[in-house]
Amino acid sequence: MALSKAKMLPAPQHIAIIMDGNGRWAKKRGLPRNAGHKAGAETFRRIAAHCNDLGVKYLTVYAFSTENWKRTEEEVSGIMFLLESYLKEALRDMEKNRIRFQVFGDLNRLSPKLQKLCRETMERSSVYHDVQVNFCMNYGGRDEIVRAARAFAADVAAGKCSADSLTERDFENYLDSAGVPDPELVIRPSGEQRTSNFLPWQSAYSEYVFMDVLWPDFSNEDLDAAIEEYHRRNRRFGGT
Ligand code: IPE
Ligand code: IPE
Ligand code: MG
Repeated sequence: MALSKAKMLPAPQHIAIIMDGNGRWAKKRGLPRNAGHKAGAETFRRIAAHCNDLGVKYLTVYAFSTENWKRTEEEVSGIMFLLESYLKEALRDMEKNRIRFQVFGDLNRLSPKLQKLCRETMERSSVYHDVQVNFCMNYGGRDEIVRAARAFAADVAAGKCSADSLTERDFENYLDSAGVPDPELVIRPSGEQRTSNFLPWQSAYSEYVFMDVLWPDFSNEDLDAAIEEYHRRNRRFGGT
């Protein structure tokens, strides 16, 4: 099989994806919204494997936002069930896949069972360093910054550091993404052109690629096309 063009271009080290459009995908087929989430979870499995093949070191995916609790109880519990199934699968296949898992977001609002699964997956996979998947669950970028600010303030109050000497680099260590380089590329499928509270700090200089495909239909070739588009961009970081 011929290598795709994207495979010949160096893959970004860190790709972040807003996995959006599951509901519309289901609606188009006359299916319940949760059927869209189930299809979206399959797409995630396939795209994670494709990222692995391309040599992407970090993949960060938006699975459930701090705002998504506004949805019906039926939809929220369907999504939580899928997240639970995925984590169980990750635990089962850990030795085979050797992927490090991190969860970004406030775990406290998740069920005790899901919290335990998240902690166990993070802990057991912490020995792997080649590929890392960051799963954003009950994640909101503003919430992340507020939690980081609280943790920093607590350290100041405890006399561990001083407010005056805080740098951007220091503050990053309080974020969920501590130790993870910023994503070079953020992809949002589904046709929406907004960031919906995803990684506001980390994506300050990321390249955004908005695509008109619903997440369950997102193909490996769509990912390759986003990487190609990324390579056409001229990143200046404020310089000339
Ligand atoms: C993304 O798909 C999944 C979550 C937000 C949990 P949506 O459910 O938002 O799908 P649309 O945007 O309604 O099509
Ligand atoms: C963003 O999608 C959150 C996830 C994909 C998990 P939403 O569907 O919640 O975002 P909005 O409501 O279109 O901004
Ligand atoms: Mg949506």
